[in-house]
Amino acid sequence: MPPFADPTRGGTISSVQPMPIGMQADKYLTQCAASYEAFAFLYSRTMAEDFCRRALAGYRELLLYDAPAGSMILDVCCGSGQWAREFTQLGYQVTGLDASPAMIRLARETAPNARFLVADARHFHFVKAFSGIFSAFNSLAHASSTEDLLLIFRNVRQALARDATFAFDLSMEEAYVSRWRGRFLFQVDGLTFTLEPTYDRTSRIAQNQISIAGLVDEPAPATAFRIYQHCYSEDEIRNALRLAEFRQVESFDAEDDLGIAGERGRRFFRCR
Ligand SMILES: C[S@@+](CC[C@H](N)C(=O)[O-])C[C@H]1O[C@@H](n2cnc3c(N)ncnc32)[C@H](O)[C@@H]1O
Repeated sequence: MPPFADPTRGGTISSVQPMPIGMQADKYLTQCAASYEAFAFLYSRTMAEDFCRRALAGYRELLLYDAPAGSMILDVCCGSGQWAREFTQLGYQVTGLDASPAMIRLARETAPNARFLVADARHFHFVKAFSGIFSAFNSLAHASSTEDLLLIFRNVRQALARDATFAFDLSMEEAYVSRWRGRFLFQVDGLTFTLEPTYDRTSRIAQNQISIAGLVDEPAPATAFRIYQHCYSEDEIRNALRLAEFRQVESFDAEDDLGIAGERGRRFFRCR
């Protein structure tokens, strides 16, 4: 991995439309966590495993190359614990935090040797504790505004040991426009869930419309809900990182630079 090259660019923080339009950030987070409550088990068995398998080499390269084995790593928005499982197996001491209690329950099963807490990424507090911090699979796109993104970055900055690395991936507009469309069907343990992603260029809000059909031999009412994400531009992300006092920021395209097939437009950031 080449050394850091590109200092962050200047600018002031700009407010973007909260999501869904008009909803307050706390209410949005409550709704987001509630949606993941319903979805956690299915998410864990399908998309979480799949992305972790495909992106593991990328995160190892970006995050762990200078974090000594045995040191402490923080997973922000850890979901169902797949990353914690992989990194504890590599010998790291992993702490995961997530706003969804259902995700944290699953994470404790997935990675029994890691430590987990239910927490809002906008409000956690550690001081210089971690030799690496990361947030995987577009999780920070759940931040409902650039102000919230900045709150998270500041918490991360404070929690990082000196010279330690923060890595995360976020989808750029190119990815939302080209891939947030269609209808996808998954079946797990007799449950069927359908995912219908859409993206609105004007508001830059992406939605996953999710419906879960009941058990085949034990019918339960179908549930349907939406999970929202916001598309941030690279300039907005870099600007928030600069305001949070990250001085070195590099970004890499998932497909072109890190070789993760089918993921052009997802950018991985490595920051100090
Ligand atoms: C797309 S999932 C990714 C989970 C995990 N990082 C992975 O790679 O599988 C996004 C996660 O972010 C969590 N999340 C969203 N907003 C959050 C917040 N403000 N604080 C903590 N967790 C949050 C959700 O509960 C969910 O588990």
